[in-house]
Amino acid sequence: MKILKSIVYIALSSSLLLAAPQQGKKNKQLQNIIQTGKKSSLLLLKTLGSNMKKNMKAGGPMQALDFCSQEAYTLTEQVNKKLPQGVTVKRISSKYRNPANQPQGNEQEVLSSLKKLQSLHVILPKQIVQKVNNHTYKYYKPLIIKKKVCLKCHGDIKNVALKHAINERYPTDMAKHYKMGDLRGAIVVTIDKSVK
Ligand code: HEC
Repeated sequence: MKILKSIVYIALSSSLLLAAPQQGKKNKQLQNIIQTGKKSSLLLLKTLGSNMKKNMKAGGPMQALDFCSQEAYTLTEQVNKKLPQGVTVKRISSKYRNPANQPQGNEQEVLSSLKKLQSLHVILPKQIVQKVNNHTYKYYKPLIIKKKVCLKCHGDIKNVALKHAINERYPTDMAKHYKMGDLRGAIVVTIDKSVK
């Protein structure tokens, strides 16, 4: 009995010893992914945010709209060029304005799950990481409407000229009638570790 106990003990402790370094490596890899995700999503947010502010200040919502519809996409491409090989960033939304921002694959399910959690009064995390395959990960940063300025173009739009211009440019627009605190979508950073 005693022998059996010590055999079990040895087996257990050696498997723990084996598992420990591997666990450490996995944690480190996850930390790296989160780090890359954070940096890349912030770069996009800051680039779009600062330009939006500048245009809003200079020419109000109409000029800011021109900026969003003419440059948001190009600026996203420029940010992508600055990122390391194998890393790309984009914006997605279930109720997208630009069809180019439509969720791909199971991204829609991730967004629906976040929305479901929010409806249960779960305070959403700053980020979640999805393992796509052995070498690809997706970092999602949930985007929540926190600033009133977002509602100028994504809420119940009061400015008639602006509303008209949005409808004209985006005939299939779904990105309206949001309220403060709503989940607007997410920034997705795809990280492919096999690309060096
Ligand atoms: C001046 C109008 C305007 C304001 C203000 C504005 N947006 Fe937008 N937003 C747009 C337009 C136009 C697009 C589509 C851009 C494109 O064609 O790529 C868009 C697209 C987006 C998208 C990409 C998904 C989609 O629907 O295509 C997100 C996410 C988003 N906006 C979030 C926000 C948030 C958060 C704020 C507040 C900080 C905000 N927007 C403020 C006009 C605006």
